[in-house]
Amino acid sequence: MRLLVTGGAGFIGANFVRLSLEMRPEVSVTVLDLLTYAGNTASVPQDPRATLVKGDVADAELVDSLVREHDAVVHFAAESHNDNSLDDPTPFVQTNLIGTFQLLEAARRHGVRFHHVSTDEVYGDLPLGTPDKFTPDTPYNPSSPYSSTKAGSDLMVRAWVRSFGLEATISNCSNNYGPFQHVEKFIPRQITNLIDGVKPKLYGAGLNVRDWIHVDDHNRAVWAILEKGRAGETYLIGADGEVDNKTVIETVLELMGHAPDDYEHVADRPGHDLRYAIDATKLRDELGWAPLYGDFRAGLAATIAWYRDNEPWWRAQKLETELKYQRLGR
Ligand code: NAD
Ligand code: DAU
Repeated sequence: MRLLVTGGAGFIGANFVRLSLEMRPEVSVTVLDLLTYAGNTASVPQDPRATLVKGDVADAELVDSLVREHDAVVHFAAESHNDNSLDDPTPFVQTNLIGTFQLLEAARRHGVRFHHVSTDEVYGDLPLGTPDKFTPDTPYNPSSPYSSTKAGSDLMVRAWVRSFGLEATISNCSNNYGPFQHVEKFIPRQITNLIDGVKPKLYGAGLNVRDWIHVDDHNRAVWAILEKGRAGETYLIGADGEVDNKTVIETVLELMGHAPDDYEHVADRPGHDLRYAIDATKLRDELGWAPLYGDFRAGLAATIAWYRDNEPWWRAQKLETELKYQRLGR
């Protein structure tokens, strides 16, 4: 099976490539990645079954020539960071909307199976302290330029299924954690701040809740959907991992040998979504998926160890990232 993995030099895509090569001896992978600030060639495994092509998912000619040579496309490539989208939405529109459009058109022309990796943020946010969760029937209500462009890309996938009979599936996952995540994101930012002797930064009061899932659990779910998912269907991926941001920071501090209150509050993110929570019943019942990483604290400890052991992987991005946050006042 020849897989075209877009965004395979980014956090989730690179972990997907690694897991795929490990679990599936019959699979070969082509990574299509623009190597933006978020892509890292060191994340892509050196393996005779993996090839890296540097290029843009919005480049129609390149996309056409690659898609036609593969059995399936797994589309991870995106501009993925909310804070950046609030600073400049332009690349989000270009990659998340135009890029997805070009891939869909190529998959339609060549009759190639398509899986679109999306986010729970397309549903907006939930109130704190209620049992409500997102389901595949929750209406779309995105808050940021990031989530609105992801929502638009999901809707295009649905339209291409209905209008052109494209064999496509969509997954909407909650917040991932694990190795190879860019240091701009919440958990790696705090771990690497502490390694550098800098206090962790909590947006606002830190009451916002995210539904954490280990990246390998997400990617196993993507495989389950690729193999057993029904065309045209949306599957929500989540592992019942709701934790508020303040508790995450306190846990990271404690695991790294610091007092749990040794962090600082910084300005809140404009339009900050309050709470995400996933009901993954459909994925569990229809496709038999279940998470393997049940213990968030243990997963965090392993992630901290990974960042301690892999400083050369993240060091080059740290200064630039913190300079950006300084400019944004966060
Ligand atoms: P990331 O920012 O770590 O990686 C994105 C990758 O896409 C990078 O390697 C980047 O170079 C590449 N890329 C960006 N623009 C491109 C373009 N125009 N052409 C080709 N490659 C391009 O992102 P991530 O956290 O790994 O997220 C991957 C996907 O999963 C995204 O679609 C995101 O919306 C979705 N998602 C992420 C999470 C999460 O918690 N991180 C949760 C749910 C869904
Ligand atoms: O829910 C899925 C989404 O999760 C994905 O679609 C996005 O690609 C991914 O980036 C993530 O979005 P969030 O905005 O939730 O993730 P982020 O890591 O940026 O922030 C997590 C929470 O932590 C959020 O409530 C903001 C807060 N935060 C973030 C940073 C960087 C802080 O309190 N301090 C920080 O320094």
